[in-house]
Amino acid sequence: MILQSVAIVGGAGYIGSHVAKAFRDDGFEVHILDNLSAGAKGNVLSGTIFHHCDILVPSSLDRFFGTQKVAGVVHLAARKAVGESMNIPLVYTEANVIGTHNVLASMYRYGCKHFIYSSSAAVYGTPDYLPIDEDHPLNPDNYYGYTKKCSEEMISWYGKLVGISSISLRYFNAVGYDHAGEIRGIESNPNNLLPRVMECAIGVRDHIDVFGVDFDTEDGTGVRDYVHVSDLANAHLLAMKYALTCSEKACTHSLNLGSEKGASVYEIIKASREITGRKIPTKEVVRRPGDPATLIASSQQAMEILGWTPKHTDIRDMIETTWEIYKELESAYYASKNRT
Ligand SMILES: NC(=O)c1ccc[n+]([C@@H]2O[C@H](COP(=O)([O-])OP(=O)(O)OC[C@H]3O[C@@H](n4cnc5c(N)ncnc54)[C@H](O)[C@@H]3O)[C@@H](O)[C@H]2O)c1
Repeated sequence: MILQSVAIVGGAGYIGSHVAKAFRDDGFEVHILDNLSAGAKGNVLSGTIFHHCDILVPSSLDRFFGTQKVAGVVHLAARKAVGESMNIPLVYTEANVIGTHNVLASMYRYGCKHFIYSSSAAVYGTPDYLPIDEDHPLNPDNYYGYTKKCSEEMISWYGKLVGISSISLRYFNAVGYDHAGEIRGIESNPNNLLPRVMECAIGVRDHIDVFGVDFDTEDGTGVRDYVHVSDLANAHLLAMKYALTCSEKACTHSLNLGSEKGASVYEIIKASREITGRKIPTKEVVRRPGDPATLIASSQQAMEILGWTPKHTDIRDMIETTWEIYKELESAYYASKNRT
């Protein structure tokens, strides 16, 4: 039975495809809006409806919202490379801030009032205390984090001024893959640790740079909060159901999504070596500017407000589901190398 329709903007990407699966499996009619600049058609799940749409072209959004009545929007489309955001800030302003504005403006024009937004822990910057809760000051120390903070502020104004209910979800480090193996697309040019480790395991990279081994942590490497992408996806579903109850008066929330557990770079690499059986050579290099020793979330508000509980918090599970995808690519990679 179809409950309601939703639009998943950026639904052909890594997290968006898992979000689309969560909504489809719950009985929603799912419309995927994506320009496939980073996502892949192969990530568009059966039982969902694909619309080629560029959020930087308002007419392409209007074409969608003018013809489809959707109860709400999950907006994930963005550029997300922290280092790149410092080098090409104008591109990030356009993709992340103006893109978000375009989606909201088109929703407003066509009367769609429920919005779930992909924000990031990057809005906090270097932590003043741990675990980081939502009362922590927002001091992003890269431009990517600023674009997320700026978008969150704009979204909350759309709540006050035109009644769009919103929940901005501040993800910590998204990892893992769908346990059923339905989503198999990998990220191109990944910036996060685990996909890079996997690329190393299958021989696409010859080593992993470890940025800093002198942090004030147990093994000297940076500790991060890794959250399974299927848990993230489920949080979006809960967030949308919550937002849909806020029709009388617009609600605006910003909520952390993390597993509340930390794993160090060396722990990830050690577990990946055990799981993959591959060497995964490392090279110790200097810290990157602005990299904190430890980032761990408090997700208490998401648990209380949405009733969310992350289920796949074992780092080995996150690595195993990722390896399931990458090990299949290994033979394809070597086959293509032998051909050239
Ligand atoms: N991956 C993480 O660990 C992480 C952490 C925090 C926040 N986030 C945020 O989550 C969201 C999704 O991240 P992801 O890892 O799935 O990234 P991704 O690159 O895999 O997915 C983004 C999707 O948006 C699409 N897109 C980009 N620009 C578009 C445009 N102009 N019009 C239409 N579609 C467009 C891409 O084709 C892609 O399918 C992003 O907003 C990102 O900032 C990700």
